[in-house]
Amino acid sequence: MNTLVGVGVGPGDPELLTVKAANLLAKADVVFVPVAAGDPGTGRAEATVLHYAEAWRIERVEFALHDRVHGPARERAWDAAATQVAAWFAAHPGATAVFATIGDPCVYSTFTYLAATVRGLLGDLDVQLVPGITAMQDLAARTGTPLVEGRESLALFPMTAGAERFRDALERFDAVVAYKFGRLLPEALAVLRETGRLDDAVYGAALGLPGEEIRPACDLDPDVAGPYLSTLIVAPRRGGRGSAL
Ligand SMILES: C[S@@+](CC[C@H](N)C(=O)[O-])C[C@H]1O[C@@H](n2cnc3c(N)ncnc32)[C@H](O)[C@@H]1O
Repeated sequence: MNTLVGVGVGPGDPELLTVKAANLLAKADVVFVPVAAGDPGTGRAEATVLHYAEAWRIERVEFALHDRVHGPARERAWDAAATQVAAWFAAHPGATAVFATIGDPCVYSTFTYLAATVRGLLGDLDVQLVPGITAMQDLAARTGTPLVEGRESLALFPMTAGAERFRDALERFDAVVAYKFGRLLPEALAVLRETGRLDDAVYGAALGLPGEEIRPACDLDPDVAGPYLSTLIVAPRRGGRGSAL
C-alpha cells in the first residue's frame, strides 16, 4: 500500500517539531515540500526539513501559494502537484512519502487538497497525519498569553473572510486568533480599535524565522501592512485567578 504522510513542521523554529515528525523526516523515502510557483528560493517548510533530511531526499512541489483568489491557476497547480506525487508512487510502489507542511497539516494546509487529489489519481492510498505546532501556539508561548482558561472559547479566524466576520468573531468568542492578514493588517487593527480590543492583542510575524517581530498590537503602525506570515492573538478579558471557571 502506498502511504502519504502529512507532517507538520511547525511555524519556523526547527526545534518546534514533534519527535515523530523528526523521525519520519529522517527515514522517509522522499520528503515533498510545497514551494511557490516560479520561486527558486528555499521554501518555508523546506528550510525546516533541511535540518532533518538530506537534500537528495527532498522533492519540491510547486503550488500557486501566493494567489489570493481561487482560480484556474491554483486548480492547475493542485493537479500538477498531485500528478508529480502520483508519478513518484508509480515509480516506488508500496513506499512511504512525507509531505511537509508549515504548522499543522490540518490547519489551512495545502496537504488537504493534495492528499485528496493523489488518492483520486491512484485509487488506493493510505493517508496519515502527524500534527505540528501552529504559529498560534508559538505566539501564545512566546508572549506568555494563556489562550483559554476555564469555560472560555477560542476562534481561529482567517482575515481573508472579511472585517465584518472578524468583528462578529470578537463578539462571539472569548479569545480570537487571526491568520492570513498580511496586507489586511490595517483593517484588522481598525476593527480591534473600534471594538476596544486593541490593548488585548499581541502580534507576531515570521515567528522562529529571520526577521521575527513580536510586539503588542497597540505598538504597530495602524497604516502599515504586515508580511504574509503574521498572527494576531486577541486574548480574553479576565478577572482574577479562576474567574473563567
Ligand atoms: C496557510 S496558513 C498555514 C497555517 C499552518 N498550517 C499552521 O498550522 O500554522 C498561513 C498562516 O499561518 C500563520 N503563520 C504560519 N507560520 C507563521 C509564522 N512563522 N509566523 C507568523 N504567522 C505564521 C499566518 O497567519 C499565515 O498567514
